[in-house]
Amino acid sequence: MIDRESRMKILVIGSGGREHTLVWKIKQSPLASQIFCAPGNAGIATLAPCVDIKADDIQGLLAFAKGQAVDLTVVGPEAPLVAGIVDEFQKAGLKIFGPTRAAAQLEGSKAFAKEFMRRYRIPTADFQIFSDVNKAHHVLRVLRKEDYPVVVKADGLAAGKGVMICHNEPETETALVDILDKKIFKEAGNKIIVEECLKGEEVSILALCDGKSFVMLEPSQDHKRAFDNDEGPNTGGMGAYSPVPAVSPELIERISQEILEPTLRGMAKDGIPFQGVLYAGLMLTKEGPKVLEFNVRFGDPETEVILPRLKDDLIDLMLACCEGQIASRELHWERGSALCVVLASGGYPGDYETGKEIRGLNDILDPQTLIFHAGTKNLNSHLLTSGGRVLVVTGLGNTLPEASQHAYARVNRIHFEKSFFRKDIGAKAMKIVTRPI
Ligand code: AMP
Ligand code: GLY
Repeated sequence: MIDRESRMKILVIGSGGREHTLVWKIKQSPLASQIFCAPGNAGIATLAPCVDIKADDIQGLLAFAKGQAVDLTVVGPEAPLVAGIVDEFQKAGLKIFGPTRAAAQLEGSKAFAKEFMRRYRIPTADFQIFSDVNKAHHVLRVLRKEDYPVVVKADGLAAGKGVMICHNEPETETALVDILDKKIFKEAGNKIIVEECLKGEEVSILALCDGKSFVMLEPSQDHKRAFDNDEGPNTGGMGAYSPVPAVSPELIERISQEILEPTLRGMAKDGIPFQGVLYAGLMLTKEGPKVLEFNVRFGDPETEVILPRLKDDLIDLMLACCEGQIASRELHWERGSALCVVLASGGYPGDYETGKEIRGLNDILDPQTLIFHAGTKNLNSHLLTSGGRVLVVTGLGNTLPEASQHAYARVNRIHFEKSFFRKDIGAKAMKIVTRPI
């Protein structure tokens, strides 16, 4: 048990908008004395010292945490979790918030997650798993026209690119050959999952878990496609809002009972209790909520709209997870809504240029907006782009339209060469909210 009287040194791992939000939120905790971030970005550097150790350099991070006597490490991205950073830190006697390597398979292997869901009757799309391209051809030849579209997924981590929606037999064949034979996703494509294509609204449900119990964070909705009207390629996420009007209290109850509870129970029963953030990406289908995927970490950009409304101390909640005490916590939320817009480099999620100067960031000081850096760096006092997703602007408001107005007013003042952003974040939900009853 951590002594909550003594203040703690915290290490946050990662370098995106999610990690900027985590550092910003943790900085408000009376439990935190000092915060480090590895490797961080230009925005994070204004809040905490950034150390130049990559998020997947587990031994480097471990040496740093030992050297600085870090009391709690918080992991942002999935790669170090799937690679076993939690196991390594725990072996060294260091406290770390996140799932073990075995539990992180829920995100690290889609085949593991799908088989787990089948075993514990957790609602998800029907599926088959293949590792042999000939067997896959054979089975898929019996698909009828009305079975399309189908979704073909690489088993392992593929930076959000390993999911292909196939509308006919030739497209499916190409996906099979690309993944299983040509290995376009390398060993992440040693197995594939072919599954039913679900229809409905997508929603992200994140829960803080202690191995046996959980508390659910407010629902959010990401916008994964690059362009307006959900067109263009899938990205890491171009914007989000929270809470989600489509998710009623009854639906929350159903998601708890049909998805989160059996997942936590099943993982514990299988001897790999889940501790950390469980992120269920759901499709709200006509038959009810179904799991599209599990992630084992905070979502990005979901975190940028969830944490600004959370009133409670995040460090206390994370410690409660580490100590198996999360059931004793109740969450409290600011009223109203949050909506964020991602400013990206032209060409993202494909090739893009970096090193563009960012202007207009500090033109106004507006308490209704927050700016989180994703891909930025400082060079000779100039703020430059350094990634595909560059900045995340969060607007806060009493209503979703108000949050949207605040976010876009700020976005429109920020400029860098070849930037782009979606202009319709939250638009569908606002139609629902503002429709006369
Ligand atoms: P995943 O990485 O599995 O979440 O997939 C990325 C995105 O692909 C999801 O957010 C959905 O938009 C889409 N997707 C994945 N699986 C399905 C499915 N079975 N039916 C429809 N869309 C899907
Ligand atoms: N926003 C999607 C993700 O974090 O995976």
